[in-house]
Amino acid sequence: MCGIVGYVGEKQALEVVVSGLRRLEYRGYDSAGVAVVADGTIQTRKKAGKLANLEGLLGDDPLPQSTTGIGHTRWATHGAPNDANAHPHVSGDGRVAVIHNGIIENFAVLRAELEAAGVTLLSETDSEVAAHLVSAELAQDPADLVAAVRRVCQRLTGAFTLVIVHADFPDLVVGARRNSPLVVGVGDGENFLASDVAAFIEYTRDAIELGQDQIVVLRRDGVEITDFFGEPTQVTPFTVTWDASAAEKGGYDLFMLKEIAEQPKAVADTLLGRIGSDGLLQLDNMTLSDHELREIDKIVIIACGTAYHSGMIAKYAIEHWTRIPTEVELASEFRYRDPILNSRILVIAISQSGETMDTLMAMRYAREQGSKVLAICNTQGSTIPREAAAALYTYAGPEIAVASTKAFLTQVVACYLVALYLAQVRGNKYGDEIATIVNELADMPGKVDLVLDTTEGVRELAQEFADAPSVLFIGRHVGFPVALEGALKLKELAYMHAEGFAAGELKHGPIALLEEGIPVVVVVPSPRGRGLLHEKIVSNIQEVRARGAKTIVIAEEGDELVVPYADHIIRVPACPTLMQPLVATVPLQVFACELATVKGHDVDQPRNLAKSVTVE
Ligand code: AGP
Repeated sequence: MCGIVGYVGEKQALEVVVSGLRRLEYRGYDSAGVAVVADGTIQTRKKAGKLANLEGLLGDDPLPQSTTGIGHTRWATHGAPNDANAHPHVSGDGRVAVIHNGIIENFAVLRAELEAAGVTLLSETDSEVAAHLVSAELAQDPADLVAAVRRVCQRLTGAFTLVIVHADFPDLVVGARRNSPLVVGVGDGENFLASDVAAFIEYTRDAIELGQDQIVVLRRDGVEITDFFGEPTQVTPFTVTWDASAAEKGGYDLFMLKEIAEQPKAVADTLLGRIGSDGLLQLDNMTLSDHELREIDKIVIIACGTAYHSGMIAKYAIEHWTRIPTEVELASEFRYRDPILNSRILVIAISQSGETMDTLMAMRYAREQGSKVLAICNTQGSTIPREAAAALYTYAGPEIAVASTKAFLTQVVACYLVALYLAQVRGNKYGDEIATIVNELADMPGKVDLVLDTTEGVRELAQEFADAPSVLFIGRHVGFPVALEGALKLKELAYMHAEGFAAGELKHGPIALLEEGIPVVVVVPSPRGRGLLHEKIVSNIQEVRARGAKTIVIAEEGDELVVPYADHIIRVPACPTLMQPLVATVPLQVFACELATVKGHDVDQPRNLAKSVTVE
């Protein structure tokens, strides 16, 4: 989604803003622009395409020196990705510049009002109306830009994070936040605004996350935060726990390869400090009381994409360990199907970014219906955990690649911790039973590490199947969501048609897809696991092979029963049934990454995708 950077201080604003935008590139964008306040004027430069295009324009047509500036990378929602629709947008008199992230839902009415007043709008965007409205409001009281911005915010509906500068206020950057994220970086004699901390972390780690319907006034010597009506509001400063280098590639060619390799540590860090010396669980931020947790008689998991797949895996564990009925719902569908919710239903919102609008809006709906929400999230201070009743953070560290990997594994681990905690509080499991499962979890970083050593063979497979017209993924039990995740990775990285199925579903239709040479990836459960599962999936492998498929089998060490039916075997360490997703997913991540590389795609920033989808 859009990247936003604002700066006021002693440095040259353009340098800070452009380097900040570069650190936000992973959010996905299709145009970029900057504005500075200089010599009583607003100067803007903006260009479709990548930042390099904007930098080329700045080289040909430099901006004047300035210590106050804003910048934006746009992911098109309203209006094509072209120069005119790129941000910043300016008012008719050229004295107000605005950048925006989100969707102004009432922009058509506002646009018509402006045009009726004789204003000429130069773009197709919703965002441009904000620039003209600020200018119109300022005409009422030219001395108070902040009051003008507040009045505009009171008129907008939808999701909007705005950052504004004005020619008459050279030491001022004003920000406003509804839904789309906005973070303040607090420096010494300088201050920053950004969509996320990556943009300013090289300058300061002291940050404040803006809350809903808040205005921030940035000057070089201070920061003031109020609500849309000028009333002071509570803010939560925090210190960014990872440094700029963590957001870099650390020697890998791709962020995705780095993040795949970081999975053992990410899993270990997510377990850290949450298992007491007595083997029992102690969950930080679990602000739901034991009584509240005992009152729950149903769980609904809401999430999107990869997070949804981790929720599907969580369902097996939660129901198996706690016997609480658990549903898993696509967040984008959830609130439109008139779901049954009440105070005895715990909603678990899973989100790496904590800003996914589909999940955020589903969560708000659930809260309005009286359900408590527990957030599982990887981004400190983001909206979803901040608005939830309780939060369990994953500690995967910054996940920069658009395709989620380490966040997925840590979401599964965090869900397991919640499930075990519920079992512990509600008495479904004895302490020794919980300790046994906790020990199984504690073994997983090492087992994931072992898988990383076996991925060379996967890279060769990528070469063999690079031209396949389609790839099917099948699995049973927790292997089914793993199959779905493998298919999603291939779609989003290699742009290949891929589909995941419950293996038992093949005979009900999908098997008609099979023809000579079609690769079918099979996630095989442990032969020591739940009875019959292994036997049945071996039958499925035979079924697909009999129809010409090439079988790529993910099977645990020592499983010799699959050997006669596998064209390729990728071995993973033996694990208890519910732990298998943590190892079986890794080869599928590598497979997709390698196929994308073979095809010459931008693996870290795949086409059309954004790291955090902050529009519905
Ligand atoms: C995963 O590879 C995708 N990038 C996407 O499906 C992602 O998982 C989904 O958009 C949810 O994002 P979130 O976890 O930040 O809410």
